[in-house]
Amino acid sequence: MTVLVGNLHSEFRAFWHPVAWSYEVADTPLGVTLLGEPLVVVRRPSGEIAAFADECPHRGAPLSFGRVEGAELVCAYHGWRFGFDGSATCVPALGAGSPIPSRARLTPPAAVCEQYGIVWVALEPPRTPIPVWSDGDDKSLGAFAPTAHTSHVLAAYQTDNLLDASHFPFLHGSLGDRNPLIGGHEVVEQHDLGFSSVLRKLNDDHESTEGWLRYTFAAPFTVLLRSEEPDGALRQSFFQAVQPIDERRTRLFFMVRVPETATDVLAELLAQEEIVQQEDVWITAALRRRGMPIGGAQDLHVRSDANAILFRRVLRHLFDSAATAKA
Ligand code: FES
Ligand SMILES: [Fe+2]
Repeated sequence: MTVLVGNLHSEFRAFWHPVAWSYEVADTPLGVTLLGEPLVVVRRPSGEIAAFADECPHRGAPLSFGRVEGAELVCAYHGWRFGFDGSATCVPALGAGSPIPSRARLTPPAAVCEQYGIVWVALEPPRTPIPVWSDGDDKSLGAFAPTAHTSHVLAAYQTDNLLDASHFPFLHGSLGDRNPLIGGHEVVEQHDLGFSSVLRKLNDDHESTEGWLRYTFAAPFTVLLRSEEPDGALRQSFFQAVQPIDERRTRLFFMVRVPETATDVLAELLAQEEIVQQEDVWITAALRRRGMPIGGAQDLHVRSDANAILFRRVLRHLFDSAATAKA
């Protein structure tokens, strides 16, 4: 049976997803949406992040319209106050010391954390950790990150796009001539919820190695890509995570590490990357797909789409295992 993978499937709730850059979350409540669920995220005075369903239990006002006062979140509508454990501490209209209904509680997601400068949320207990990005922790490397773009691109095809090296010389042709030939694809590791693989890119002689592309994919939408010289030296290391916002919109979180550290070089690389992302969004937003078909009548794959096939296999496992669990 063909499943069309859109953005909103309950299977995605039990994974970490990005919802904001760390620098975007301060002591003013921030409203975000993940998998169709509005959330409020805020930085506590202790520096930790708190997140709750963005809905006051009293009349449903968005708590992201409210404010933080001391160690409490205050609703903008009737001023109910909530501690960061979610429990209401004060209903002003009842006066101090009056009993507060036990249902006056905010609902937190299953898990919240910060890693690599991103705030991550899992709506249900996460099945896998956030992938380790060792280049991301290497302080000797230069770092930059394009603006986190929100676009009408399905999360599955945004992920598919980074796993796909064969579009680069065509869609991103403005960045110089590149040989489209891929010399070989090797699966380094494969498990139910992810894989690692390596692609060898060929020079114009169609024999010698132009470079290596090392991929790590973690379900459902996180991709690490390490581009290396023929001798294994780092060219660029990419980390991509996708926030499925609602049925059609996604926000792309993309970070890069490079051996260069000079400010002007990093600025130029960032400008290039912004162009690459605009080109990617231009085409992926226009794909004639309402969802990514898995099983049955799939997208048409050829040998150079090996990563895409592995990606769909993981999605297939995710949906099959959820169906088995429900049966
Ligand atoms: S809706 Fe929040 S206090 Fe009334
Ligand atoms: Fe691209």
